Amino acid sequence: MRVLGLETSCDETGVAIYDSEQGLLAEALYSQIDLHAEYGGVVPELASRDHVRKLLPLVREVLTKAGMRGEELDGVAFTNGPGLAGALMVGACAGRAMAYGWGVPAVAVHHMEGHLLAPMLEENAPDFPFIALLVSGGHTQLVRVDGIGRYRILGESLDDAAGEAFDKAAKMLGLGYPGGPQVAKAAEQGTVGRYKFPRPMVNRPGLDFSFSGLKTFTLNTVAASREAGGHDAQDKADIAAAFQEAVVDTLVIKCTRALVQENLNTLVMAGGVSANTVLRARLAQKLAKTGGHVFYPRPEFCTDNGAMIAYAGHCRLQVGQAEGLGVSIRPRWPM
Ligand code: KG4
Ligand code: ZN
Repeated sequence: MRVLGLETSCDETGVAIYDSEQGLLAEALYSQIDLHAEYGGVVPELASRDHVRKLLPLVREVLTKAGMRGEELDGVAFTNGPGLAGALMVGACAGRAMAYGWGVPAVAVHHMEGHLLAPMLEENAPDFPFIALLVSGGHTQLVRVDGIGRYRILGESLDDAAGEAFDKAAKMLGLGYPGGPQVAKAAEQGTVGRYKFPRPMVNRPGLDFSFSGLKTFTLNTVAASREAGGHDAQDKADIAAAFQEAVVDTLVIKCTRALVQENLNTLVMAGGVSANTVLRARLAQKLAKTGGHVFYPRPEFCTDNGAMIAYAGHCRLQVGQAEGLGVSIRPRWPM
């Protein structure tokens, strides 16, 4: 089964073809980062317009790379939510229409299921059951995964997502957009321990998260450092390092707790923040002590991409799921 996947939920236009026998045949990605950078965040209207501009050229590109015609596909999968309404509409309309034109089924994919299954695209893929830590710009969730479509949310953020906290901290520090990679880069030059940030909610039982307190703490720390007159590059790096350390520590503590609670030893990490190298190293270190294993997608499949949608769509099509001709997007869609 060969499935075309389309991702247009936010600021990345991603297209890929997944083959159930041969794996990923082709993929292409266009990132709108430069377009939104000058606004310091994603501008929904501009995002939609850019998806319209880029989507079909990218579809042609992956079909050419795979040496195929659209009619030779077995289905088209598109991200149907959660995400920006206008942006989702582009992928849903284009995907449904192409499937109609080619006479193949169309299937709607939940963006976070795409992230969750992205590690399955790697040679060293995890076996079910496992605990997934989904950490993106919009979500922070711990999920017990017993199979495709068999997900139980164990805990999630009560306010900001981890990626959102990274983005906001970057803004406060005057670093660019998107914030996660910028904070991580600044933190490399920072001294951990000069500033001590709290580890939110770790002393309470349960698996929920809260990152809005860290945001306020960062704001106050930046203000105090400005007032002290020494808010230079080193100071910013030290704050970035302390912030990152607090987020990483909190995520590692909750992951370990989830594994113990569910009596499992396999952890899967996905979503933009899972590209963070300090988080990866710390989790690997922690799990190595208890004989556990951690799996991630390759860095380019941690953030939004078409490959994860093609893969999740192929899983859904294999069990007979498909959409009618009228598609409704789902900007807010709990998993
Ligand atoms: O999964 P994703 O591409 O889009 C959403 O579905 O939200 O995640 C984007 C988020 C952004 O908040 C970005 O700042 C964060 O992932 N991110 C990182 C890193 N790379 C991306 N956060 C921390 N460290 C990174 N290296
Ligand atoms: Zn995402």
